[in-house]
Amino acid sequence: MGGRYRIAVIPGDGVGREVTEAGLAVARAAAAPDGVVLETTEYPWSCQWYAKHGRMMPDDWRGELEGADAIFLGAVGYPGVPDHISLWGLLLPIRQAFDQYVNLRPIRALQGVRPTLARKDHRHIDIMLVRENTEGEYAGHGGRLAAGTEGEVATQTSVYTRRGVERLVRFGFETARARSGRLASATKSNALQHSSVMWDEVTAQVAGDYPEVEVSSYLIDALAAAFITNPENLDVVAAPNLFGDILADIGAALMGSMGMAPSANLNPTGDAPSLFEPVHGSAPDIAGRGIANPMAAVWSASMMLDHLGEADAARRVMTAVERVARTGPRTADLGGTGTTSEVTGALLEAVADQD
Ligand code: NAI
Ligand code: MG
Repeated sequence: MGGRYRIAVIPGDGVGREVTEAGLAVARAAAAPDGVVLETTEYPWSCQWYAKHGRMMPDDWRGELEGADAIFLGAVGYPGVPDHISLWGLLLPIRQAFDQYVNLRPIRALQGVRPTLARKDHRHIDIMLVRENTEGEYAGHGGRLAAGTEGEVATQTSVYTRRGVERLVRFGFETARARSGRLASATKSNALQHSSVMWDEVTAQVAGDYPEVEVSSYLIDALAAAFITNPENLDVVAAPNLFGDILADIGAALMGSMGMAPSANLNPTGDAPSLFEPVHGSAPDIAGRGIANPMAAVWSASMMLDHLGEADAARRVMTAVERVARTGPRTADLGGTGTTSEVTGALLEAVADQD
């Protein structure tokens, strides 16, 4: 009872600013009955900040963030700054420096949200995606030779370490054991005979420690199809970085809107802060109009409370999210006419009703 947590908040760009406010408000309200206090420090690092300073974060960003119990982020990236600059200038260095090696993405459709697939309803969509988050295709290894000339060569080398694969896959097995006991592993072992084959071998080895978990190995293309045709057969999915990124957006689409999908960038050891953020970006097409769906950010805040050990508060937030999905109000991406603040208000009421 009565924990205090230091939360570093990076609202970022566009709708990121609008939805982080909602996420924190609902999390605070849900934590209050247990005497839990979220002490927030806000950092203005964003594309706007970049325009003034020529970089996404100050040199001492690591020192600023490392004492936090968790980081809560909106979205970064905006027209005017190339996406590889904003991504490599903020999010990817944070994930790597704090060794947030699991990107955990619940893919769960809620009752009340119009289903995306005509032959499925919300009960068919409940997958936990466990994506590798620090190496693979996003290791940043490679370079360009003779840039701009006709003879230009670009290489982007995937880096798979046995340690990196093992700890990710193990997290997948642990997650599967706590859910249905089924784990799907995503690789491309027919074509990627080095990295994917090592992934499969490590998975087979770790499987020895989890006899109660049933593992299926999929080729990523077939798994992408299975997300659409038979999502109800999938439970926990473990995937390397790039494959996981793509599956995550298929998953967000299955949930009915990008505005619903939450995520956590976890350092499961607790040695450094984990980061929680909605899957969506800064949505420049709707930014500044007060109509962004706050549900993904609020759900991400629930995952943050869970990670901090505040399971009751986390559950209150989720109960509110489920209730408002069912009853409305809903934002335009879900076919409604509600504003961000109306939906946030309904979430706060739904939290208060649980007292
Ligand atoms: P996006 O996710 O921002 O938008 C895609 C579509 O989903 C748009 O039509 C948008 O209106 C809608 N959408 C997104 N969030 C919504 C919400 N909360 N409520 C209602 N509708 C929502 O992806 P896009 O347009 O490809 O990227 C825009 C910028 O965001 C880029 O600069 C990109 O690099 C950045 N980005 C940042 C991410 C992050 O910070 N983790 C993740 C994805 C994109
Ligand atoms: Mg993505």
